[in-house]
Amino acid sequence: ELSGPEQAFQQRVDDGVRIEPKDWMPQAYRKTLVRQISQHAHSEIVGMLPEGNWLTRAPTLKRKAILQAKIQDEAGHGLYLYSAAETLGVSREEMVDDLLSGKAKYSTIFNYPTLTWADIGMIGWLVDGSAIINQIPLCRCSYGPYARAMVRVCKEESFHQRQGYDLLIQMCRHGTPEQKAMCQDALNRWWWPSLMMFGPPDAASTNSAQSMQWRIKLFSNDELRQKMVDQSVPQAEYLGLTVPDPDLKWNEARGHYDFGEIDWDEFHAVIKGNGPCNRERLQARRDAHEAGAWVREAFSAHAAKQAARRKV
Ligand code: ACO
Repeated sequence: ELSGPEQAFQQRVDDGVRIEPKDWMPQAYRKTLVRQISQHAHSEIVGMLPEGNWLTRAPTLKRKAILQAKIQDEAGHGLYLYSAAETLGVSREEMVDDLLSGKAKYSTIFNYPTLTWADIGMIGWLVDGSAIINQIPLCRCSYGPYARAMVRVCKEESFHQRQGYDLLIQMCRHGTPEQKAMCQDALNRWWWPSLMMFGPPDAASTNSAQSMQWRIKLFSNDELRQKMVDQSVPQAEYLGLTVPDPDLKWNEARGHYDFGEIDWDEFHAVIKGNGPCNRERLQARRDAHEAGAWVREAFSAHAAKQAARRKV
């Protein structure tokens, strides 16, 4: 049974009215948004690490400039998202502490290693491609600051996806057989983890029903995952690469590709902190946080000085 204010709130959501920071909202709505937006922010920030690994080894100046711009965009996305979460009454310090202590989740995908340059192409094509599919609907979600942040994020993600695919076209269609083999190896490693980005199957998705009712989520995990498969298979064909799934098959009746079972044990292991790079990623964030302490102190000292001067 919904209380009076809850009913009125749900009506506004159903009518497509954007909820703004100062509007009344159920505590659970606020909590769900803080959870999702902060996890999303952490994913953007941790997501800089796998690609940062190749910045000093990019094959040309042009590729290096592109990669650097893209990684900086991810930092920006993290910052917009932390700001959006702050409008819900949580502080950035709390969110960062939760990430560094291992309490907060971030996307499983960023716990996989980038072993070759082809992995940079795969991240752009598949990981940023999945991010776009997941995030375009979020531009229409019920919470104003989150929806607005997503508009710019999606525009930038689409550049990221294109740069990844462009890199792969170069290697697969204009490169050497060794380069193409490197891309196939990278696809074999990134395909399944990319499908896991969309979260557990609908039946196991604990938050979906409520989040869909609140229009925080507009499509289910499985719907978006299917979209990703349908979109990516022809793109893999154009590259001349084979998707590593023997059960992948066009289903004429459904008008979609059928695909094989995802290894959910692997997904849960990575969420629990036991993916190939979880420890390394968190350590890198902790080191960066410590190394940046003097910058935060300097800013605080400067702000205090400015405030004292204004008082005189
Ligand atoms: N990695 C880590 N945790 C995950 C993942 C994943 N790929 N998928 C689901 N989970 C977690 C959920 O956070 C939830 O745990 P929690 O209740 O402790 O928060 C649990 O698994 C069950 O999943 P759901 O009930 O389906 O959770 P939810 O409704 O939040 O859906 C989803 C998950 C689809 C990721 C949603 O949170 C979302 O759309 N988030 C915004 C987008 C985002 O965060 N993208 C990050 C990667 S993209 C990028 O940064 C480039």
